[in-house]
Amino acid sequence: MGKKQRWIGHYSSSHKILLVGEGDFSFSACLARAFRSAANMVATTLESEDTILTEHFSSEAHLEELERRGCLVLYEVNVYVMDRHPTLKSMKFDVIIFNFPHAGHYHRLIETDEELIELHRHLLKAFFKSARGMLSEGGEIHVSHRVDYPYDQWKLKELAEKAGLFLKEKVWFDKSDYPGYHNKRGGGIQSNKTFPLTNKECYTSKFSLKHASSEISVCNSTTSIVSDVPSLPGYQGYICPPAPPSPPL
Ligand SMILES: C[S@@+](CC[C@H](N)C(=O)[O-])C[C@H]1O[C@@H](n2cnc3c(N)ncnc32)[C@H](O)[C@@H]1O
Repeated sequence: MGKKQRWIGHYSSSHKILLVGEGDFSFSACLARAFRSAANMVATTLESEDTILTEHFSSEAHLEELERRGCLVLYEVNVYVMDRHPTLKSMKFDVIIFNFPHAGHYHRLIETDEELIELHRHLLKAFFKSARGMLSEGGEIHVSHRVDYPYDQWKLKELAEKAGLFLKEKVWFDKSDYPGYHNKRGGGIQSNKTFPLTNKECYTSKFSLKHASSEISVCNSTTSIVSDVPSLPGYQGYICPPAPPSPPL
């Protein structure tokens, strides 16, 4: 008899899932608890193990749980080059999740500064470019993100399209759907603080390589469908990868 398929949010125990840019690993741990076994998951962070344990005291329990449930945990995974990571380069995923990506906090920059917005856009561009090659047939890239100003200036959909991806669906993100998830600010300065989420303004955008339908659904508490056909005539791929930004000051 096959194993029972278990679901939480958009995620199933039968999906091969890669999580990148994890904070204290509480989102990964939440999925692992729901699935019971986390052998289908690879959970990663940009930071070293020492840094994670120092910056996020709560990570220790989450990491223990992930390992107990069979999740592969990898440290120092940079989304700029993750497709060349020794362990990841031969793996394919049904879902790649980056929750609340952020290029870091800098003493001299605030979120509305064009310079910081550009750093966020570089990060996302590089992420989409490396993630697209790591998808299995029909796989999806999920980015949860604030859509209010100035976060809307990142122009997520446009960045994904430049990497040859299409927005399939945009779904309201409700943190309470993921018990135990504590979203983190990350980024070197006061990393353990919460990255502020305003419930009404957070969405999970789901991107895929194939243009499955001529309609994109945008769902929130009242589901509505909008017609918005992305077209990329003459798309030639992402040609000029940016250099990773320097670490936070
Ligand atoms: C606002 S925090 C969100 C953390 C976590 N995903 C959450 O939801 O709690 C942004 C995260 O992006 C990660 N990040 C920034 N640049 C990255 C990169 N080049 N590769 C991987 N992760 C990165 C940071 O380490 C940080 O943990």
